[in-house]
Amino acid sequence: MRAIIKITSFVFAILATVMLMTGCKEHTSRIYKVGVSQCSGGQWREKVNSEILAAQHLYDEDVEVSLVNAHDNVDLQIFQIDSLVDSGIDLLVVAPSESAPIADAIGRIMNKGIPVIFFDRKAETDDYTAFIGGNNIEAGWTVGNYALSLAKNITNHKPVVMEITAAMNTSPACERHKGFESAIQGETWIDYICMNGDWTSNETCRLLTAQIKKGVIPDIVFCHNDGMATGAYKAIIECGKEGSVALIGIDGLPDEGIEYVKLGHQIGTYVYPTHGEEIIKLALNILTGKQYEKDNELSGMMVTPANVELIGMNGRELMRQNENMITIHEKLEEYFGLYNIQHKLLVFSFVVIGLLFIAMIISWLSYVQMKKNTRQRQMMNEEQTLFYTDASNRRVHQMFITPEEELPAPRSQDMLFAERLNEAILKNMSNSNLKMDDLGAELGLGRVQLYRKVKALTGQTPVELLRAMRLQRAYVLLTSTTKTIAEIAFEVGFNTPGYFSKCFKEQYGKLPLTLREGIAEEK
Ligand code: FRU
Repeated sequence: MRAIIKITSFVFAILATVMLMTGCKEHTSRIYKVGVSQCSGGQWREKVNSEILAAQHLYDEDVEVSLVNAHDNVDLQIFQIDSLVDSGIDLLVVAPSESAPIADAIGRIMNKGIPVIFFDRKAETDDYTAFIGGNNIEAGWTVGNYALSLAKNITNHKPVVMEITAAMNTSPACERHKGFESAIQGETWIDYICMNGDWTSNETCRLLTAQIKKGVIPDIVFCHNDGMATGAYKAIIECGKEGSVALIGIDGLPDEGIEYVKLGHQIGTYVYPTHGEEIIKLALNILTGKQYEKDNELSGMMVTPANVELIGMNGRELMRQNENMITIHEKLEEYFGLYNIQHKLLVFSFVVIGLLFIAMIISWLSYVQMKKNTRQRQMMNEEQTLFYTDASNRRVHQMFITPEEELPAPRSQDMLFAERLNEAILKNMSNSNLKMDDLGAELGLGRVQLYRKVKALTGQTPVELLRAMRLQRAYVLLTSTTKTIAEIAFEVGFNTPGYFSKCFKEQYGKLPLTLREGIAEEK
């Protein structure tokens, strides 16, 4: 039984170790929750979003991004921001859809101790943690200078440069206008017309169409983004002015502005930087207490027909790499999912194998125990059979071995004699020099009388009976005590253990030592 407990504990120890080793791998590090509130959708935002999502897996820290789109609705954006905060984000990244109304909501969030990063657009508040995005003043200024350089090529009339702004309640529109205006300010050799639009291509189309129909045909039109420029292009085509108006936009996405420049729909675009990975890096620096700048400017660049091929190629390559990164990550997640299932199955199999092993050992040990018991019982039976099948022994057994209470009553003269003889033999058994004369004298009989009586009763001579009883007593002592064979031999009246062993073997078919070893093994 002790062996079973030992084996069971061993198997359980192994199983526990396996489980601990497999369980320890579980993910325990902190996950930073970043909420991203986008003012609107569109290709440019989609590019930023995919970079942000890919950047979740780029750094050492674990990041979980939640993205929401306010569809240019500031009330919806405020509601979404509050919901993000309620969901337990650690930091908010926000591109405000309008600069003024959102300021209060940002103040509320900052008061809750949640850092806020303005991204791409700003709000009318200084209460924020950091800003990251392109420099819109510089973008407007760069486009302005490019427009001037183009205007200089117009020699047959006074060049007309038009600006169609985006919604002026958003910071990029104000800043792009500011930059553009500062570049062309004082350039009296051009006519500058500025019209306020919104971020949509429809409104841009409507505004430009109205101007053309009025007879104002601009040479160069600056639209605040490439999406708006598509509206301007539509107006030009619809008014039959293709080739006479040059369009410039901002954003410079490979599939949008850059493509339009390649196609000749636009004369230029400005790459307005996205860099979602930089946004997440800044967020992590803030969250992990590292150093960071409050204002983080991302640089852009002017795209013209001269450099469009090269920039287009680079832009596309970067986008492809970002997509690859997302694909790799998705595949890894898939593999890890599979690995986790296999891992759990492995642990489960270990447990089942362990339990089966324990069950097998228990069954085996019970089987061995059962076999031992059967063998022991068989041996005892054999000994008894051997002893009782001998006619003389059977009688002796009846007279000398059978417990008193089993003896038949009333007792005959012979029985009484047998009892006395039994007592006398037991009393003198250890005396190796016991003479039959002395035994007879103890029973009040002569040697011959004793011989006859014993022979008649047991079928054995007194000497034979004495020897059988000595050996029988020895058998009992061997199986029920720890006395040595020599001690037992002397106790039952043998002079030498060697002779005792010989006689014992003759009587029981095995040596006393063999009998002892058999008993020890069974234990
Ligand atoms: C996208 C967008 C871009 C633009 C930016 C300015 O939502 O309109 O086209 O450059 O926002 O915030």
